[in-house]
Amino acid sequence: MAELTMERPRENLESLKMKNTLEDFDFSFQPSIDKRQIEGLATMRFLENGENIVFLGPPGVGKTHLASALGMVAARHRFSTYYINCHSLIEQLKKAHFENRLPDKLKALGKYKLLIIDEIGYLPMDIQGANLFFQLIARRYEKVSTVFTSNKTFSQWNEIFADVTIASAILDRVLHHCTVVNIKGESYRLKERKEYMKQKQHIVNTLFEQGQN
Ligand SMILES: Nc1ncnc2c1ncn2[C@@H]1O[C@H](COP(=O)(O)OP(=O)(O)O)[C@@H](O)[C@H]1O
Ligand SMILES: [Mg+2]
Repeated sequence: MAELTMERPRENLESLKMKNTLEDFDFSFQPSIDKRQIEGLATMRFLENGENIVFLGPPGVGKTHLASALGMVAARHRFSTYYINCHSLIEQLKKAHFENRLPDKLKALGKYKLLIIDEIGYLPMDIQGANLFFQLIARRYEKVSTVFTSNKTFSQWNEIFADVTIASAILDRVLHHCTVVNIKGESYRLKERKEYMKQKQHIVNTLFEQGQN
């Protein structure tokens, strides 16, 4: 990967969460995910067709992991790839607008063959934010692919985007050519935490037993 970054320094590969790969995703822990569907997405055909992907689900189920793992595959295939958190994206767009350089910013963000917008709906968006977001989505529509992750259902997207009309204009374009991966399951973070607590309890018990002897 380091080699790729050096060869294509402008691609911000470091912005991807490099530790997340498809190989270390435990599909058996998340049976609602169809492994073959994810493998199909990893062929990158969706990128060639300018299609989108949306990962939906509660926190900790692997949305960011899978989105960035697909980003890593795209980068390996030499597709220009950029990962950004939705909140920072909106902040950047607002700043560009404020500094009268929105067209350049939209042009730059519109060029990535793959843009990953993580965590849609974690923080509320005001009407200006929603408008700027729409402009970016409209610009990329049917040309280049975007991967989204969200902990909100599509019907809740109306609330995220402050205005129902903007929300439906966004959803229309996002979903027109799109694979939706709806993840229903337990949080992997909680699983790790539970295992850690179990281990800790085991150590306490052992020490206690040793103390008794
Ligand atoms: N099925 C899984 N196999 C391996 N690691 C996982 C799995 N699901 C989640 N993780 C790991 O758990 C943590 C939380 O996952 P993440 O993708 O950030 O969740 P989300 O974005 O859905 O909140 C990350 O460190 C991720 O690598
Ligand atoms: Mg996440």
